[in-house]
Amino acid sequence: MRLFVTGGAGFIGSNFILYWMKKYPEDKIINFDKLTYAGNLENLKEVEKNQNYTFVQGDICNQELVNAQTNGADIIVHFAAESHVDRSILDASPFIQTNIVGTHVLLEAALKNKIPRFHHVSTDEVFGALSLNSDKKFTDDTPYDPHSPYSASKASSDHLVRAYGDTYGLPFTLSNCSNNYGPYQFPEKLIPLAITNIIEGKKVPVYGDGLYVRDWLYVVDHCEAIDAIIHKGTLGKTYLVGGQDRTIPNIEVIKNIITRMDADESVIEYVKDRPGHDRRYAIDWTTIHNELGWSPSHSFEEGILATINWFKDNTTWWKNIKSGAYQDYYKTQYK
Ligand code: NAD
Ligand code: TYD
Repeated sequence: MRLFVTGGAGFIGSNFILYWMKKYPEDKIINFDKLTYAGNLENLKEVEKNQNYTFVQGDICNQELVNAQTNGADIIVHFAAESHVDRSILDASPFIQTNIVGTHVLLEAALKNKIPRFHHVSTDEVFGALSLNSDKKFTDDTPYDPHSPYSASKASSDHLVRAYGDTYGLPFTLSNCSNNYGPYQFPEKLIPLAITNIIEGKKVPVYGDGLYVRDWLYVVDHCEAIDAIIHKGTLGKTYLVGGQDRTIPNIEVIKNIITRMDADESVIEYVKDRPGHDRRYAIDWTTIHNELGWSPSHSFEEGILATINWFKDNTTWWKNIKSGAYQDYYKTQYK
């Protein structure tokens, strides 16, 4: 199989490429990535010399280049996006451009080149927020209700993918997954930010009352879900993908990390809340389980331990990121 992967130098995309090349060494992968601040070829050192792996630096908004590069692919696996809610609040423009316009460019290329399959990777944030006083989960029938520029742009991209299926017969699958964590996650997101700040002896910023709840999905479990969808998923369908543990408030996530790292709770610093902050996310992944036999195999306890160990063992990776432009972002965001 020839896979055209967008955003393969980012967190989930690079985990996916490493996973795929190990499991399916005969397959050929083109990793098409613009290398924004979030893209890092260091993540792919293990495969960079593999003859079945090719890296192409490019912007998914460039129709001519995308048309040329997707020609001959058996599948487009679309990860590329601006992915951080806080950055979308500071400046929504790149989110509109990459997440909406870029997805449209890819859809056009998929039609033009008659690509037999298009898998779109999206988020549970398109569904909005659940309340703390219920045990409801997002299901296949939950209506869209995005609250941040990030989630609104992803919602828009989901609608475009489905519209291309309905209108032009584009053969697609779509997945909405919950918060991923694991190796190679950019240290602007909660878990890698907390781990690396603790190692550096810095405070860990907690938004608002810290009682926001996320559904934590270990990134390898997510890669396995996409694998199942690509090989067995029904065209035209959406699959919801989530983790084993859906009830841990942010403050407990941070305390868990603090305990495991032998740090002190004095590192916790409550800061101003995020505007439009979604209270709770939780995924009902019954459909993908019943239909494709997938379920997340890592508990939060296992996943967080593996993640902490990875960041402890790979300090050069994140220290390089945290110097330079990252400092400017951090000052603006946490001033
Ligand atoms: P990331 O920010 O770590 O990586 C994004 C990658 O896309 C980077 O390599 C970047 O260089 C590339 N990119 C950005 N704009 C581009 C453009 N215009 N053209 C080509 N490449 C471009 O993101 P991630 O966390 O790996 O997320 C991957 C996908 O999964 C995204 O679509 C995101 O919305 C979705 N998702 C992520 C999470 C999560 O918890 N991280 C949860 C649900 C869904
Ligand atoms: P984040 O990792 O940004 O993912 P998302 O916004 O996509 O869910 O944030 C996860 C949760 O952690 C979210 O409720 C916001 C919160 N958070 C903090 O409390 N402090 C921080 O410094 C960050 C980045 C996030």
